[in-house]
Amino acid sequence: MKVLVVGGGGREHALCWKIARSKRVKQVLCAPGNAGTAQVARNVNVAADDIDGLVALAQKENVGLVVVGPEDPLVLGLADRLRELKIPVFGPGAKGAQMEASKVFSKDLMERHRIPTAASRTFDRSGQAKGYLESCTVWPQVIKAEGLAAGKGVYICHDLEEARQAVDAIMEEKRHGDSGERILVEEFLEGEEASVFALIDGRTILILESVQDHKQVGEGDTGPNTGGMGVVSPLRTLSTRLHRQIEQRVLIPTVHAMRQEGIDYHGVLFVGLMMTEGGPRVIEYNVRFGDPECQALMRRMKSDIVPILLACAQGELEKADPPQWDARPCVGVVAAAGGYPGSYRKGDAIRGLEGAAAVEGVEVFHAGTKQVGEQIVTNGGRVLCITAVGASLDEARESAYRAYDAIAWEDKFCRRDIGQRRPGGQPSPAEA
Ligand SMILES: Nc1ncnc2c1ncn2[C@@H]1O[C@H](COP(=O)(O)OP(=O)(O)O)[C@@H](O)[C@H]1O
Ligand SMILES: [Mg+2]
Repeated sequence: MKVLVVGGGGREHALCWKIARSKRVKQVLCAPGNAGTAQVARNVNVAADDIDGLVALAQKENVGLVVVGPEDPLVLGLADRLRELKIPVFGPGAKGAQMEASKVFSKDLMERHRIPTAASRTFDRSGQAKGYLESCTVWPQVIKAEGLAAGKGVYICHDLEEARQAVDAIMEEKRHGDSGERILVEEFLEGEEASVFALIDGRTILILESVQDHKQVGEGDTGPNTGGMGVVSPLRTLSTRLHRQIEQRVLIPTVHAMRQEGIDYHGVLFVGLMMTEGGPRVIEYNVRFGDPECQALMRRMKSDIVPILLACAQGELEKADPPQWDARPCVGVVAAAGGYPGSYRKGDAIRGLEGAAAVEGVEVFHAGTKQVGEQIVTNGGRVLCITAVGASLDEARESAYRAYDAIAWEDKFCRRDIGQRRPGGQPSPAEA
């Protein structure tokens, strides 16, 4: 069978790498891919948002499964188009993708189906939003642009002045473009953050191993947010009780809600949660794997992933064998270009990749890389994700940093504290 992976980041390299190891797969195609996916798949120069081009490619190559990495093609209806052609696809249709693409859509769905979340109000006019904020007596308040905003559309506002500025930035200055046509003003939730990844085949839910990224650019979780600077799996502290609460109070009701609203969801649902005193509450849904969370999950999954993805695409997850997981922990360190998440340079030659790959337990996944002649050069802010598994978290971490240190280009940097969060500061909840 041929499998097409859509996207070109570290997440997609990890998916290609894992899928290429399947006995059932003859060839992996990646559109558009990067210099890393080229080592395990055939890159095809079709952009991830070129829906017609991707559909034509899947037909021409007679692929047996399409796995969609990023949210954009899902929002644009790629999965619907493929399903019409009876091509199995891992990823929800356009309506399901609204769970991520519109925070108003997902909030309404949660409210209609009594899924625990932060109380909120929606506004499409800045004056009304400010009027409401003037009446608020409890601070902080959370202001969110409705649409996709590359992780930059959420403002935690500690007083009325900050809130007014956030409303102006989103609705008047249009900092997030059309994504800010409407805003949510949301109750601030206190607690530890956690996220859960579950495969959903329309009905059946399969929760994946615990995994956590490191969003902020600076060590000790400081500085601006990024796409993710590092990853650890598993987490030490998710109690069975909390796990069950998340399943019973959030995941099962969410799948019910989607079914009732006519969303036939086939893919991975990534639920961001706040573990409050009153139990888990949903912060947001994403309709795809996180990057770099995916890289750690692919490293730790021992089973062939292809039958699982296919079963998920075809509504037969119940019949599939659940995945086996490597008990060993995985640490992933992102190597980024100097300046990221601000402006950075592209085109620097990357050296030492082979030495890094030779370190015990290490796989280097490419994100922003490009092959230019004989050389692999930087081509994005997040350039590589260096993953390592080890007998212990410390061992995994040492291997990942040893491999990181073997790689060189001008101005590379990473966070040195991946996998070292103090136990109490681990965003996954302590025993409740
Ligand atoms: N209601 C809330 N209470 C407290 N913190 C929140 C709330 N909503 C969002 N946040 C914080 O803001 C971050 C980004 O919000 P989120 O809704 O996940 O948006 P996105 O990931 O699309 O930027 C969350 O990870 C969380 O740290
Ligand atoms: Mg989020």
